Amino acid sequence: MKIGIDKIGFYSPHVYVDMEKLAEARGVEPAKFTIGIGQSQMAIAPITQDSVTLAANAALQIIDEEDREKIDFVIFCSESGIDHSKSGGVYVHQLLGLNPHARAVELKQACYAATAGIQMAKGHIALNPESKVLVLGTDIARYGLNTPGESTQGAGAVAMIISANPHVMELEQHNVYLTNDIMDFWRPIYSDKAFVDGKFSNEQYILFFNKVWEVYKEKSGLELKDMEAICYHLPYTKMGLKALRTVLDEASEEVQERLLKNYQTSTIYNRNVGNIYTGSLYLSLLSLLENADLEDGSRIGMFSYGSGAVGEFFTGVLQLNYRDYLIKESHQQLFNKREEVTVEKYEEIFEDVLPADGSDIELDISKDPATICLSGVVDNKRQYVNKN
Ligand code: CAA
Repeated sequence: MKIGIDKIGFYSPHVYVDMEKLAEARGVEPAKFTIGIGQSQMAIAPITQDSVTLAANAALQIIDEEDREKIDFVIFCSESGIDHSKSGGVYVHQLLGLNPHARAVELKQACYAATAGIQMAKGHIALNPESKVLVLGTDIARYGLNTPGESTQGAGAVAMIISANPHVMELEQHNVYLTNDIMDFWRPIYSDKAFVDGKFSNEQYILFFNKVWEVYKEKSGLELKDMEAICYHLPYTKMGLKALRTVLDEASEEVQERLLKNYQTSTIYNRNVGNIYTGSLYLSLLSLLENADLEDGSRIGMFSYGSGAVGEFFTGVLQLNYRDYLIKESHQQLFNKREEVTVEKYEEIFEDVLPADGSDIELDISKDPATICLSGVVDNKRQYVNKN
C-alpha cells in the first residue's frame, strides 16, 4: 500500500520586511542578506498570530468535509508551543471542527519534528488505512533585534494530510536518521528568543547531511542521479546549497545542473518567508512542486535537520497527475496580498508581545486578514476566533 502526502497547504502572516532595507538599517551590505544568506523578504507574525493560528490557517487551505470526518490523528509539530502542558493540536482540532474521535498531540525536536510527524503518520496509516492524519509544522523564528540570527527569522506553517493512496507524494522506505546531543541552537523555557552558536550550527547541519546521505546510499542502493531534486530544511536559502555542494561531485555534469536548478526552485517560497523551523523543509518541497514542472514519478530527496540535533534523509515519489492536487493559486494570492512594513514597524511588531505575567488582554483582530486569529487572553486562557 502506498502511503504519503495527499494534500499540502501553507500559511504565512500578512506582513513582511524587505531584507535589503533591513540590511541598510543594520549597517550591513544588502548583498550579505540577499546573496550571502539568500533571503529577500522576512515574514513577521503580528501579536494576533501564534503557532496555533498559523497551523489552523494553513490547514484551512486544504481540508474538506471528508477530511474533517476521516482525520483521526492531529500531530502538531512546533518549537514555538504556547503551553507546556496542553498540545497546540487540541486547539487546532477544535478550530477546524474535526471528528471528536481523533488523537491530538504536540511533537518537539527543533526543526525536525514535522518529519517525525509524517513518519509517525505513515505508521498510523499502515495500521489504519482508511483514516487520515493531519501533520502541522508551525513556527515563529525569533532571535532578537540586532542579533546575527535576525536575518534568519520568519513565521508560517505547513499543513499536510497523510493518507493511503496519496495524490501528491508517496513516502518511500529507507529513511536514515541520526541523533547526537549537541548545543548548536536551543531555547530554554524561560526565553522567548532562541540561543544559537551560528557557525557551529552550520557545520553540524552539513555534517549531519553528509552522515545520513552516506548511510542512505548504502541502504537504498540509490545515488544522486536517481533524485530529480533534493529539498533541504532551509533556515536560510544558502544553507541547503552549502550542503548540496559537498556531494555534487558524485554526479555527472548534467545531474549537477539539474539538482542545482531544482534547488533554486525549491527555495523561492522560503526566500520570501524566512525560517519557519518545522515547516521549512515542507515549504521548500511546496516551492519545488508549485514552481518546477517535474514529471510524475520523479523521486525527491528530503533532508530534515533539527538542532540539538536530529537529522534524517528520506525520499518521496511524485504521483500520477500530482499537479492537479496542488493549490498554487491560493499560495500565489497569499504572497500577492502581503503588505511590506518599514523596519521601524517591524521592530514595533516584534516587541508587541503578550503580557509575560499572563494578565488579561484584548487584541484588535480587525487589521489581521487571517481567518483564524488570537483575540486575547482571559484568565490565562488564549482566546481564538474563527471569522468564518
Ligand atoms: N555580499 C555577498 N555575501 C556576503 C557579503 C556581501 N557583501 N557579506 C557577507 N557575505 C556572506 C559571507 O561570506 C557568508 O557566506 P558563507 O557562509 O557562504 O561564507 C554569509 O554572507 C553569511 O555571513 P556571516 O557568516 O558573516 O554571517 P553571520 O555570522 O552574521 O551569521 C548565521 C550567519 C550564522 C547563519 C546567523 O544568521 C545565525 O546564527 N542564524 C541562526 C542559526 C542558523 O540558521 N543556523 C543554520 C543551521 S542550524 C538549523 O538549520 C536549525 C535552524 O533552523 C535554526
